Amino acid sequence: MAAKTKKKANSQNPQPPSPLKLPIIGNLHQILPVPHRSLQALSLKHGPVMLLHLGQIPTLIISSSDSLREMTKSHDISFSGRPNLKIPRQITYNSKSISFSTYGDYWRHSRKLCVLHLLSSKRVHSFLPVRQSELSSMLSLISHQSSSGPVNLSPIIYTFTTNIICRVALGRSAIEEGQYRLLHDSIREVTELVGAFNVEDYFPSLKWLNRFSNLDARIESLFKKFDGFISSVVEDHIVAGVRDDAAAAAGDLVDVLLSLQKDDSLGISLTMDEVKAIILNMFVGGTSTSYIFLEWAMSELIRNPKVMKKLQQETRMVAGKNSMVTEEDVNKMHYLKAVVKEVLRLHPPAPLMLPRETIEDTELQGFKIPTKTRVIINAWAILRDPKFWDAPEEFMPERFMNSGLDFRGQDFDFVPFGVGRRICPGMQFAVTTIEFTLANLVHHFDWEMPSGLSGEDLNMEETQGLTMHRKYPLLLVAKKMDWS
Ligand code: HEM
Repeated sequence: MAAKTKKKANSQNPQPPSPLKLPIIGNLHQILPVPHRSLQALSLKHGPVMLLHLGQIPTLIISSSDSLREMTKSHDISFSGRPNLKIPRQITYNSKSISFSTYGDYWRHSRKLCVLHLLSSKRVHSFLPVRQSELSSMLSLISHQSSSGPVNLSPIIYTFTTNIICRVALGRSAIEEGQYRLLHDSIREVTELVGAFNVEDYFPSLKWLNRFSNLDARIESLFKKFDGFISSVVEDHIVAGVRDDAAAAAGDLVDVLLSLQKDDSLGISLTMDEVKAIILNMFVGGTSTSYIFLEWAMSELIRNPKVMKKLQQETRMVAGKNSMVTEEDVNKMHYLKAVVKEVLRLHPPAPLMLPRETIEDTELQGFKIPTKTRVIINAWAILRDPKFWDAPEEFMPERFMNSGLDFRGQDFDFVPFGVGRRICPGMQFAVTTIEFTLANLVHHFDWEMPSGLSGEDLNMEETQGLTMHRKYPLLLVAKKMDWS
């Protein structure tokens, strides 16, 4: 592997600046209540590269595109580790998911396999019938519910994104309803738990405190539930048999992983736990992020009726009276793409990305960064940095029209999917789904706030864990378009 201009930390370099800290908790109290906002405020005082002490853990905070560019272009490998956090470790079969495995051979091979075989353009395209049929069901459900009052869009969208992943990963038609509910609930709980605060991750010497909470029991019970379910699905697939490569390629992700398990030429022989961890990763990575995006997108469109109107004009002009906006139509919709980018800019589903950890001594912006420093990239702050963005707090999709700015990791001011070796491999899967879904939601319905309220009345409070979603469910009135 060719390492980019790797530069070891010069021991003469100073440490990054740090705010004053308290005994024992360090700077932990300063990152509450909403970490990405509090960290942005701290970085304005202490600089875009600062060192906090979160409990006992030295944590580097990166808050500018310049430092992110240097990190990625000059020291990408050094910053490509992930910390060994308790909950992800226990839930992902001892850190065998791609997201939480540390930098090394296993991560490299499993990521490559995922990029080539699970999330490649060809495979994303092959999931089109699943997207279409789940979208049809969602649109019918909205139509049906809208006849009796405002529609609570949040659970509807969540079920939609979960169904898509279930079907592409497991072939959900084979799963009975009771099991499906169990899976649905456990994915939600895994996502919540993975983002939850856990004493041991900040105070390793106090890990015995976990004995007094019910956390271990909760993790174990959740893990057992998920593992029991996924093991039986894998078992069913084995019994049904992956006939040959062609059958696997046409099948679901479990089929693909089982067939890859037998392929010696890949340089990796996946254990059953690794297969299950990768499937779990697809669920957790793919469900909540797209759901969060769609909730924020509909919220911003309701608050900005002119943008909603312009977007509807585009979808209705391109797709006409067709019953569904197709993916070919979507490719002609430049305003839609600008709206999607603007929602990702203002509401990145993972505002602090996923935590990183340095795997060797390195440096950044002239500061010394020792090995095993935890690293948080405040994407939320970068995406609202007034040095780059005009009126950064405003929702203005027009800023992306003819701008060429893209989220594929080359524009360090626009990084909703991350950067470098660890950039999100599900980007194409996600963008294909969310563009198609958003276009259809606005194409099929006119949307209003309930009870004569206006879009300005919509509460935009966010919750904070690993992902940032709406604090309150999104209730809207949907009026079906009459195409006659
Ligand atoms: C709007 C949707 C999505 C957003 C905004 C998003 C964002 C992100 C971000 C910020 C990271 C961390 C990148 C870094 O550390 O630099 C990430 C990693 C990851 N994402 Fe996504 N993601 C989305 C959808 C998906 C989907 C649909 C999948 C899979 C089905 C997925 C799978 C992953 C995986 C496996 C990783 C870990 C990569 C690694 O550590 O090597 N994501 N994503």
